[in-house]
Amino acid sequence: MNAICSTVLDAIGDTPMVSLAAFGKDTLPHLYAKLECTNPGGSMKDRAAKGMIEWAEREHNLTSGARIVVCTSGNMGVGMAMVCAVKGYQLMCLVDAKINPATENCLRVLGAEVIKVYQRDETGGYHLTRLSKLDSVLAEYPDAIYLDQYDSPAAVMSHSTSTGPEIYNAFQGQVRAIVMVAGTGGSSMGIARFFKEHSPQTDIWLVDEAGSLALPGNGGASPRHLNGMGTSIAPANYGPADFHTFIDHVVYVNAEDSIRAAIELARCEGILVGGSGGAAVQVMRDVAAAHYGADDNLVALLPDHGSRYTETQFDPDWLAARGINVPEIFNVEDES
Ligand SMILES: Cc1ncc(COP(=O)(O)O)c(C=O)c1O
Repeated sequence: MNAICSTVLDAIGDTPMVSLAAFGKDTLPHLYAKLECTNPGGSMKDRAAKGMIEWAEREHNLTSGARIVVCTSGNMGVGMAMVCAVKGYQLMCLVDAKINPATENCLRVLGAEVIKVYQRDETGGYHLTRLSKLDSVLAEYPDAIYLDQYDSPAAVMSHSTSTGPEIYNAFQGQVRAIVMVAGTGGSSMGIARFFKEHSPQTDIWLVDEAGSLALPGNGGASPRHLNGMGTSIAPANYGPADFHTFIDHVVYVNAEDSIRAAIELARCEGILVGGSGGAAVQVMRDVAAAHYGADDNLVALLPDHGSRYTETQFDPDWLAARGINVPEIFNVEDES
């Protein structure tokens, strides 16, 4: 990265790799975390947002003031709003009732228009409701360009050309396994593609929330609680036909274990990430103990920062209302 960035977009990527010696103290392999929260929009989605909008510029010859529409659980919207602010495009974000208040406010501060749906679809998620709203938005704004992050070679490529090489170079290729979480598939499929080409001996683990329909062979739909992770459709990015060429193992987790792991990581390593990052480190530690040895380097990709979730995943009332048991959250006495 240059010492002086010409815009904030030059600050995307080159995120830190941090050893998790304390979190992994009882496991033989070396555990590491790639902290995507240090991207300027706060998540790994900045990479894909930039790649997708640059693709749209090439495909659609965008001029200043062009209107872009995206369906987002939050982080992609923030990334795109940041890119659109720099480049002078208008952004409409189709979000749903699960979005964190903090993320929703970030979208507005960055100048995006927020359109929110509240009705769950037949899978228990919101994506199908967002898609029917999308139809009416595109009918109202026929010049708007919809960027579909669920079916985006540009999103996948943004990770195969940046995040993947960054992980590989941090260890001169000596990475035994990578643990990533499943959403639209942009990050995991991009990184997996890079590694299957340059280091096929690296195991690729993909973690999804139970109840998600993202991956082939899922166990059926049920309500989910983690943001960004899991989907109520099967994203084309996973290319179901060649999914197993790139992904070696799939693990399902629940919100409770994931949020508890995020809190443990915060308290023992000082690394504050969202619940999907908690899912990644929890699974990394489990598979480290079960499958790997003392010479192995394992990496978990941690998608975003935990500060976005203080009113949701890290709020005692929010957790209690959903029956998610996270007793650690109550350990601080409030004497005011
Ligand atoms: C917090 C968080 N975790 C995980 C994911 C999943 O990443 P991907 O969509 O690249 O599969 C996302 C995507 O929005 C996210 O915001």
